This record gives sequence, C-alpha cells and structure tokens, in this order.
Amino acid sequence: MSNKSILNKIKIEFEEGLDKSEKNLEKLEKLKIAFLGRKSQLGQLLKTIKDLSPEEKKEFGILANKTKKEMENNINLSINRLKQQVDLEKEWIDVTAPGEKTEIGHLNLLSKTQREIERIFTSMSFEIADGPEIENEHYNFDALNIPKNHPARDLWDTFWFKDKSEKNEKLLLRTHTSNAQVRYMEKNKPPFQIIVPGKAYRYEATDANHEHSFCQFEALVVGETVNVANFKSIAQEFFTAFFQEEIKIRLRPSYFPFTEPGFEFDISCRVCQGKGCSTCSHTGWLEMGGCGMVNQRVFQAAGYEKNKYQGFAWGFGIERLAMMKYKVDDIRHFRSGDLRFVKQF
Ligand code: PHE
Repeated sequence: MSNKSILNKIKIEFEEGLDKSEKNLEKLEKLKIAFLGRKSQLGQLLKTIKDLSPEEKKEFGILANKTKKEMENNINLSINRLKQQVDLEKEWIDVTAPGEKTEIGHLNLLSKTQREIERIFTSMSFEIADGPEIENEHYNFDALNIPKNHPARDLWDTFWFKDKSEKNEKLLLRTHTSNAQVRYMEKNKPPFQIIVPGKAYRYEATDANHEHSFCQFEALVVGETVNVANFKSIAQEFFTAFFQEEIKIRLRPSYFPFTEPGFEFDISCRVCQGKGCSTCSHTGWLEMGGCGMVNQRVFQAAGYEKNKYQGFAWGFGIERLAMMKYKVDDIRHFRSGDLRFVKQF
C-alpha cells in the first residue's frame, strides 16, 4: 500500500470515529490520542518521511502535514463545541423554580417610633433640634440650675468621663436631652417651639421599666405668653395623634431645678387599659417623664432677660411611648438584639 493510500485510509477511519464519538467528550479525547498521538499510525507514518526521496518527501510531506492539520482542527472543533455545551448545561437555571426569599432589614422599633414623633411635631410646626450625647457639666447641669454639690444632681446618676475636655471641663454622657435647652436658646430668640429627640444615659440598675441607655425627646416651647394650658393642649394633641385614640393624661406636682412649677407627666396605661399590670407597676398609669414651666434661671443662663419670656419643657421617654403603642412589656427588649423581638415590628 502506498503512503498516500495509508494516509487516506487513516483519514477515513478517523472521520468514521469522529462521527461515532461526536457527543462524548471522553471518546473524543481518546480518538485524538489514538489518531494524532505520537504512537498513532499517522505519527509513525510521519516519521518515515525523512527516509523518502527528496521529491516524494516534498509531495507527501506537504500532504501528510496538511491532512494532520485538518484532522486536528476537526477534532478540536468537536471537543470545544462539546465543552461549551457542558458549561452551558452547568449554568442552566430553572426559571420556573420558586425563588429564595432574601431577608430585607427594616427600621428598629425605636427609630420607627422616633420618626413617628418627629412627623407629628413637624406637622404642628415644631422644629427638630439636636444636642451632643457627650456633654460638659455646664449644659447638662449648671445651666439648668443644678450647681455643683447641689443635692439635686443625685436625681441623675451620671456616667462621668475620666478625662476632661480640652477646655478643662468635666465631661459626661448626657443624663437627659435637657442639655439641648440652653444650647439652643443661646443661638435662638423666642418665640420658638422645638423637640430634641435623642439618646440619654443613666448610671443605674435596669428593670422592666428602666434602662441605662434610653431615648428621650425634649420639648421646649418659649414665647412671651406661653402657659400651662398651652402645654396641656399640645401634649393632649400629640398623644391623641400618636396613639390615634383619646388618651388620659395627668400631671402630678414634682420638682426639677430647671422648672417652676414642675410636674410628673402620666398617661393611662394602654397595655392593661388602666387596670394595672407589670408595665405600669400595677398603678394603671405610666410615667412618660418630667415637665414644667421653664425656670427663669434657665432663661438667664441662656442670656435672656429675666421675666421677659415664659415657656414649658418636657422630657419624655421614647421607649415608654413605643411600649405603650406596640404593647411591649419590658424596656430591655429594645436593646437585647433578639431577632424574635426585632422582627415583630
Ligand atoms: N430632664 C428631665 C429628666 O430627664 C425631664 C424634664 C425635662 C423635666 C424638661 C422637666 C422639663 O428627668
């Protein structure tokens, strides 16, 4: 058999093999080795070229190499096509399969409540102001008529910082949002009405109604003729809007150095509808916080002329409001990080 017919025969066998293995990667790889590998018949045939006469070498050499190239191209094409197909199969997605539900986060109940409060007060033309959480003793105490060594300071168990400020002031975590009162009044002249929502801190033991870190919102309304009746009507309007039902409120005489007179402000407990439960310590009332008419000394600390203005202020607990509205029976839930709680709201 001439070299040419051997070559032809190899080519035909190879093509038959290719037809049969078209859909099988493993078979194709084997076919490639069998027909194009060094030990293949073609491989052997190519080795004999060097022994041919120069003419034959030229003619057959070219033909043999061309045939080899063609065979290689053909099989590589089939292999690549098949590999691509396998990749596609791997990437196949079932568009009819039910999707996996991704959990979407949401606002914490406290933030939600704070926004709700802000919404109501801005609709009542209040401005929202801010104060620092790290405060000096001037704005947290002295300016509010609570001088150093005054026993009233004991009303607020305070977290003090070891280090003093650059101006050598003693620093603390504000014990109430009232620290914003004089800060705001130093920069603004009456009449104005603001709320200051934010965090406050007390160095005290926790229970179902007390947390060392909690949120308050301060209200401060100042003008030339502001009185207790204005205060009661604004508070009543707010609580009705917040709970979307008529809420009973009551004022009990109390004492704060920065108010004159001062009150404790209660609303009827919505967890038990006033019957008495653990949230309201079985009194039927829940304390929202302190309030009162602004003491003239506070106005003076802010640089206002004495007796020119009147105003009222309160500091209410935001957790308390959220507890009432969403029937949460323990204030410690808010910061527990327990998802069973968080996800309910
Ligand atoms: N700052 C007081 C407190 O947190 C509450 C309060 C604010 C009382 C404004 C009167 C007026 O205890």
